[in-house]
Amino acid sequence: MTTPAPDAKPSPYNHQTVLWVKHWTDRLFSFAISRPASLRFRSGEFIMIGLALEPKPILRAYSIASPGFADEIEFLSIKVPDGPLTSHLSNIQPGDEVLMGKKPTGTLVLDALKGGKRLFLISTGTGLAPFLSVARDPETYERFEQVIIVHTVREVAELAYRDLFERGIFEDELVGEQAKAQLVYYPTVTREPFERPGRITDRTASGELFRDLGLDRTQFDASEDRAMICGSMAMIKDVAAMLEAHGLVEGSNAEPGDFVIERAFVG
Ligand code: A2P
Repeated sequence: MTTPAPDAKPSPYNHQTVLWVKHWTDRLFSFAISRPASLRFRSGEFIMIGLALEPKPILRAYSIASPGFADEIEFLSIKVPDGPLTSHLSNIQPGDEVLMGKKPTGTLVLDALKGGKRLFLISTGTGLAPFLSVARDPETYERFEQVIIVHTVREVAELAYRDLFERGIFEDELVGEQAKAQLVYYPTVTREPFERPGRITDRTASGELFRDLGLDRTQFDASEDRAMICGSMAMIKDVAAMLEAHGLVEGSNAEPGDFVIERAFVG
């Protein structure tokens, strides 16, 4: 055993153990790691995650998919065959070590939104991750009467967590009852037949989204709608433009607003 030199600097990372890994498709997987006792975060924030690779560690920003009070810290990641981090990260096994930064941050938090009636959580691909956190936090249901999880993916198999939003969350001890009454899951698929086909931007522009929700209007309403957006840059830009066109104003931690955005964090 080697003893660190007395003047050795403390590691800038938390060294955490992998608890489980779930592969959804050959492009997508989830994993969870142990939670350091010192970590505090708000549901919806992101943090640096990586591996101690040679010649140096590689870390990327990942949204935390578990809610702020969870015992394990969960992530949703793409796999890029030649990706400097995900090509290795996608091979992790329970018991392996993962590096995690010490400072969570981000704008997809309830604190950055003004009060409203309805919260749209709009994502593509792994952009769903922060909303897994927000949708499993009881405070979300205390702040909003209705919470709509919108997830657009290319193929049906990429609807990760579909079972959670169609069944599992209703059994959750903390938010089950609230979710039953207030949560709407709205998946859409663009490159395979599906009951709700097409990009969310198209379904919004056509008014279908609002019709499907039983609302008596065909567009966003700044007096009662709030939104968080995460995923592909093109989608974020398009949805933000639609929200702004209907009078919704972007918010931040410093100045809460009607909607907040974060680009998808990928390895
Ligand atoms: P599409 O299949 O029509 O490109 P990706 O896997 O490339 O990250 O994309 C995830 C999903 O996001 C896909 O279903 C893709 O639809 C969709 N998407 C990409 N760009 C936009 C956009 N500008 N607006 C809405 N959805 C988008």
